[in-house]
Amino acid sequence: MLNIDLKGKKAFVVGIGDDQGFGFSIAKTLFEAGCEIIIGTWAPIVKIFETSWKNKKFDESRKLKDGSLFDYIKLYPIDASYDYPEDVPSDIKENKRYKELSGYTVSEVAKKIEKDFGKIDILVHSLANSPEVMKSLLETSRKGYLAAQSASAYSLISLIHHFGPLMNKNSSALALTYEASTKVVPQYGGGMSSAKASLESDIRTLAYEAGRKFKIRINAISAGPLKSRAAKAIGFIDDAINYSKANAPLQKDLAPEEVANAALFLLSDLASAITGEILFVDNGLNIMGMAMDSKSFEKSEKN
Ligand SMILES: NC(=O)c1ccc[n+]([C@@H]2O[C@H](COP(=O)([O-])OP(=O)(O)OC[C@H]3O[C@@H](n4cnc5c(N)ncnc54)[C@H](O)[C@@H]3O)[C@@H](O)[C@H]2O)c1
Repeated sequence: MLNIDLKGKKAFVVGIGDDQGFGFSIAKTLFEAGCEIIIGTWAPIVKIFETSWKNKKFDESRKLKDGSLFDYIKLYPIDASYDYPEDVPSDIKENKRYKELSGYTVSEVAKKIEKDFGKIDILVHSLANSPEVMKSLLETSRKGYLAAQSASAYSLISLIHHFGPLMNKNSSALALTYEASTKVVPQYGGGMSSAKASLESDIRTLAYEAGRKFKIRINAISAGPLKSRAAKAIGFIDDAINYSKANAPLQKDLAPEEVANAALFLLSDLASAITGEILFVDNGLNIMGMAMDSKSFEKSEKN
């Protein structure tokens, strides 16, 4: 029997803020395969995440097939928009959600994890952010555009730069992306489409550079629409899910577990020759060249 066994491995999964997103589902699936999980949660929401976890709010989602609960060994507050302490602006440092925290820049978190655990085997980048995501690209400010790039694309470069040296040889990293990188999804604003295009291009270059330098693999999953907290903030997620069900080859909801299973494969040794790849896990929506629910097809019998 072919088995994915991650016993003895450690994963750092960045971008878990609740139990609804891809990060949570990927971490849970890696855990179920035997991997130890270290969580990186966006600094300003750490308190609410830890309180919810403690108050058993996520217990139903944490349940594994054998009835036991998914757990993590340690959580680190992180803000992947900052690399070093001197990069953090004073208004952020003084913000009440950051004030009690320290060491949340990428370089500091890497140092802490190295001190606490030594090496890691898996790195997952499951985060994105744009302050102006509700604005069209045409109306996006320079500041908003660069903030989207910083949080959603450069954050991967920074993570690989700082965690590459901590990753065991032949280990693997994964990021999450979206089809709006190469095709027009008008509602995906604030420079997020550009950030995903950068992220996908960087996946290839980083796969080469970090493959040579650290002997690690880097891939991305381009996921279909999921009603996560981040997606709800964009505002059109219900329409995107309905559109996918009306037009994709597989007319069903996308379960986060389906993305997590693909992630498990890409992060395991079964994918040992795959790097720099963008794998669609979207019920096949990306292959379509026409919207089958279009009014233009109303009279067609082939629909
Ligand atoms: N939900 C979808 O429909 C969809 C589709 C394709 C790709 N994705 C991608 O999946 C990934 C995960 O998103 P999700 O939809 O599961 O939502 P999510 O809300 O579960 O995850 C996004 C996380 O990013 C964190 N974050 C934001 N800014 C950060 C920063 N500066 N530093 C550290 N963390 C930060 C948020 O706190 C949140 O926990 C993202 O890259 C997203 O673009 C989502």
